[in-house]
Amino acid sequence: MSELNHIALNILKKGKGILAADESTGTMTKRLDAVRIVSNPENRLLFREILFSSTSMSECIGGVILYDETIKQKTSKNISVPELISSMGSYPGIKVDTGAKNLAGSPEEKITEGLDGLRERLKEYYKLGAKFTKWRGVYSISKNFPSKLSIETNAHALARYASLVQENNMVPIVEPEVLMDGEHSAKDCLLKTSEVIKKCFDQLIFHKVDLKGVILKPNMILAGNKSQEKIPGEEVAKLTLDCLKNSVPSEIPGIAFLSGGQSEVEATENLHLINKFNDTNFIMSYSYGRALQQSALKFWAKDTKNIDGTQEIFNHRAKMNTLAAQGKWSKEIEN
Ligand code: 13P
Repeated sequence: MSELNHIALNILKKGKGILAADESTGTMTKRLDAVRIVSNPENRLLFREILFSSTSMSECIGGVILYDETIKQKTSKNISVPELISSMGSYPGIKVDTGAKNLAGSPEEKITEGLDGLRERLKEYYKLGAKFTKWRGVYSISKNFPSKLSIETNAHALARYASLVQENNMVPIVEPEVLMDGEHSAKDCLLKTSEVIKKCFDQLIFHKVDLKGVILKPNMILAGNKSQEKIPGEEVAKLTLDCLKNSVPSEIPGIAFLSGGQSEVEATENLHLINKFNDTNFIMSYSYGRALQQSALKFWAKDTKNIDGTQEIFNHRAKMNTLAAQGKWSKEIEN
C-alpha cells in the first residue's frame, strides 16, 4: 500500500470523518458576525482550539482542514495547531486554493484559483505538518449552467492541483461542489453532478494522479433549495449512490461528503441512509464544515467561558456523524 493510500484510509477508518475548519478569514468573519463575536485572529483561534482539543477528535475526527492563518498559529499551550491536532490522533490538512473568481468567458460562473506558486506553498505547508490538502471547485445549476467551459476548466485546475499535491507527498481532497442553490430538480442535480465528477476523473487520470491516494469530496444529490420538490432521505441516498457508482473509479479509497447548507441533523441522517444502502466498496463518510460546527459556535458565542459545554455539543455532532458513516445512527440516539 502506498503511503498516500495509507493516510487516506486512516483519515476515514471506522466511521471517522473530516472537520472542515478551513473557512477563509472572510467566511469566518461572516460566521462570527452572525453570532456577534468580533472576528480577529485571537477569537478565530479560540473557537477552533476548543474544537481541536475535544475528546471526539481521537475517536471521530480523522482529519482537520485548516486555513492558512490557522496552520501558522500557536495554541494556548504554546504548540502549533498542527501539533495539537496530531497529538489528538488526527491528521492536519490545509485548504490550498485561493478562492473562486468569475470565470472569464462565462462571468456568472466561477473558476477556482491558486495554481501560481502552489508548489512552493505546498512545500511550506508540508513542513508545517500538513498531511493532506483541499481544493474546491464550485458549480451552479441553472438552464445553461454549469457550462462546458466551467466543467472543463475547473476539472483541469483540480487535476493540476492534485498532481502537485501528490508530488509533495500529501493526499489531495478533490472537491467539486455542485451548489444546492436554485430551483432545479434532484434529477438535474444527479445529471450535472455526474457530468462534473466524470470530467474531474478524466483530468485526474490524464494528469497521472494516483487515484488510490485521493479523497473525493462531493455534494449529495438534492433538489435545489428553491425547488418545490421535496424528496425523502431514502431517495437522496439512492440518487447519491447511483451518481457515485457511475462516475467514481473503483481505485478511490474514500468519499467524504460536504454538508453544503443542509441542517446538522439532515446532513447526518442523509449520510446514515447512504451508508445503510451502500452497495459499493467505497467508504462513505463526512467532511463537514457548518454541519459540525453550527450549534457549537452558537452556544460558545453566548458563553465564551463555557469550554466544556461547547465541546459537549461538538462531540455529540461528531459522534452522530461517525455513527452515520457506519449506518448505525438513529433518531433515538440523536435525541
Ligand atoms: P460545508 O460542510 O459547510 O458545506 O463545508 C464543507 C467545505 O469544506 C466546503 O468547501
